[in-house]
Amino acid sequence: MDIPVKKWYEAVQTRYSQQKYMTKEIKPFTLKSLEKKIAELNQIYPEVRIEIFKKSIKEILPALQGKYGNFTDSPAFMAFVINDNGEHRWTKMGYIGEAVILEATALGLGTCWVGARYVPERSRVKLNLKRGERLVAVSPIGYSSENYNLTRHFISKLFPHRDRKNVRELCPDGYDPDWPGWVKNAIKLGSYAPSRLNRQPWRFYYGDKKLVVDCKGEPSAYKRLECGIALLHLEIGALDGGTSGKIEFGGLGLASFVSES
Ligand SMILES: Cc1cc2nc3c(=O)[nH]c(=O)nc-3n(C[C@H](O)[C@H](O)[C@H](O)COP(=O)(O)O)c2cc1C
Repeated sequence: MDIPVKKWYEAVQTRYSQQKYMTKEIKPFTLKSLEKKIAELNQIYPEVRIEIFKKSIKEILPALQGKYGNFTDSPAFMAFVINDNGEHRWTKMGYIGEAVILEATALGLGTCWVGARYVPERSRVKLNLKRGERLVAVSPIGYSSENYNLTRHFISKLFPHRDRKNVRELCPDGYDPDWPGWVKNAIKLGSYAPSRLNRQPWRFYYGDKKLVVDCKGEPSAYKRLECGIALLHLEIGALDGGTSGKIEFGGLGLASFVSES
């Protein structure tokens, strides 16, 4: 994936899950930019795709079993759709999905991953899923109306991601302060990834220029998705830290970033 490093690095710092939205329409130019990016990202892996619906998130939420939180109406939502076949599809969904979330954040839009089992009969929106496709998550998009946003922004500048696990806990085989700068930067950004109830299931391992992400315990579908989210954060952190390289799925863990410099 072609990563706009500075833009998404900044978006990682400013992104927060937003549940409250203004009903104000999204500016046409903003929506167009986001749709253009989605069209690009939808080309990367045939197993996953994202689509924007200009309907309120509340139209789809009744069909999601196990979601949590109190959402207000939003001018639009994004649907995260997975094919029933294909290797690493859940991890790829997290990786591509978070790219769209960060792009939306950079465009000034609020987002919130909502991942839960979809019961089509309860949906008020027709999703036009193709045979073998399944909705695995959604996110509202729109302008956030959470009035503590400014305070949050201020606090997050002072205490960036104070509610995340310590990097030492996230590296069960040890965290070495003498690791290259890009590795430490990648792990820091990886730790800022969003996850259900902020459980942070990812764990990181480094050796031989390879930064591996795996999950704690059994790799359930949603843990795989969350590790895919963390993988994108790792890649942004690694590139921002001055290395070049590529990501790989599978291998020692669920996925890795491999440095080539
Ligand atoms: C797969 C997934 C599902 C989530 N589901 C919900 C949800 O149903 N309701 C909600 O309010 N937040 C949901 N979240 C958002 C998390 O609660 C949030 O990411 C976490 O608490 C960390 O906060 P932050 O995103 O503001 O950094 C979900 C996040 C992920 C990654």
